[in-house]
Amino acid sequence: MKTIIEPFKIKSVEPIKFTTPAEREEILKKAGYNVFMIPAEDVIIDLLTDSGTSAMSASQWAGIMNGDEAYAGSRSFFKFENAVKKITGHKFIIPTHQGRAAEKILFSIVGGKGKYIPNNTHFDTTRANVEFTGAEAVDFLNEIGKHPEVKADFKGNMDAEKLENFIKKVGARNIPLVMITVTNNSGGGQPVSMQNIRDVRSVCDKYGLPLFLDACRFAENAYFIKLREQGYQNKSVLEIAREMFSYADGATMSAKKDALVNIGGFLSMNDEALATKCRNLLIVTEGFPTYGGLAGRDLEAVAQGLEEVLDENYLQYRIKSVEYLANKMTSAGIPIIEPPGGHAVYIDAKRFLPHIPPEEYPGQAIVCEIFRVGGVRGVEIGSVMFGKYDENGKLIPPPMELVRLAIPRRVYTQSHIDYVAEVLIETYKNREKLRGFKITYEAPMLRHFTCRFEPL
Ligand code: F0G
Repeated sequence: MKTIIEPFKIKSVEPIKFTTPAEREEILKKAGYNVFMIPAEDVIIDLLTDSGTSAMSASQWAGIMNGDEAYAGSRSFFKFENAVKKITGHKFIIPTHQGRAAEKILFSIVGGKGKYIPNNTHFDTTRANVEFTGAEAVDFLNEIGKHPEVKADFKGNMDAEKLENFIKKVGARNIPLVMITVTNNSGGGQPVSMQNIRDVRSVCDKYGLPLFLDACRFAENAYFIKLREQGYQNKSVLEIAREMFSYADGATMSAKKDALVNIGGFLSMNDEALATKCRNLLIVTEGFPTYGGLAGRDLEAVAQGLEEVLDENYLQYRIKSVEYLANKMTSAGIPIIEPPGGHAVYIDAKRFLPHIPPEEYPGQAIVCEIFRVGGVRGVEIGSVMFGKYDENGKLIPPPMELVRLAIPRRVYTQSHIDYVAEVLIETYKNREKLRGFKITYEAPMLRHFTCRFEPL
């Protein structure tokens, strides 16, 4: 088989500023060893997130010029609404400025004290928006998804049996909705199978519960279904996506991922009464229902992006380029979550740095070292992001200590990825010299964004 090439040509470029390891040492120190505090200009290859970092196409930029900026009833809104309906089949489409704005509106309405929201794994903003209302966010990831070294096709699946037992325990009336995150970001970017969505749907039906998708990476999930699930090889990704959404009563979406834009999101649903409540809240917090916190031009770009993301040449390149980095890493012995996810490679920091305990944040040690060695920015997804404290102030670590290398869509070429692999391999060779960190400042919520560290 020939090399799978980037299915695009480059018309506009952004220069990369180069720095030396000594300069990066200073940059790290100044940032309190928190890579969220590093100016992006000082980063050589930025794998902090795949969110809002996509390169837009010429057609999307053309859409930007075509945007209709009318306050009410903008032409761009109808284009956006059609594009979303074509994929989700949902009746009511509510634009928001990004995914968490959709979550905020939804959970402000359905959440509250005494309520529970089950998910395969809540993303951090989703969990924060659930918990902010006083409700409890509970995760029911399938057992296999918790084992980074085990290869399986659908490690994002929800444990439908555990879900059902939970519903029986707390009572369906205390569960306003069940959510499935596709792909499962916090669990390694792993896909959820169609069968699993159907299984969760039938549990929901049994107890009369609505099912929502957190659909940020729906196209990558649909492509994995096409590649891995029996019966889907000859279906188009659009058909697969439509089937996924057909089992859901609604969705929250960050368009900053699989709509290939730099800002945007939406809420979709079939329940008219709920949609009315959401729109009323939208007017207070985001804007009028035909723009919802976005400009008309942004809606055009989302509509176009939703078309482009379903192109199977694009999706093949997308999934294969993540796999390409993962293969280089595993060939060098670097422990990762296997198989790699759709948007990112996740390093298993526990196995990478067995000499650094969770209390000393092994993931953070890797994040800092790859920045120092090569100016590559990744993100810790472990005790820094999800750690809690018990009553004695002792850290309660989450099950996994990970470092995510998220690949922006259509931004980096194969040589950039080769460089990243070289940086990682060098870091891995010197792993025994790495030391952990302690936190010297932290905010009460979502601490990873602003906390400061000192090396031990
Ligand atoms: N749900 C999932 C699964 C996500 O990955 C994200 C964002 C959101 C919801 C929230 O969307 O950022 O538009 O408000 N994930 C980004 C990331 C930030 O880096 O994985 P948002």
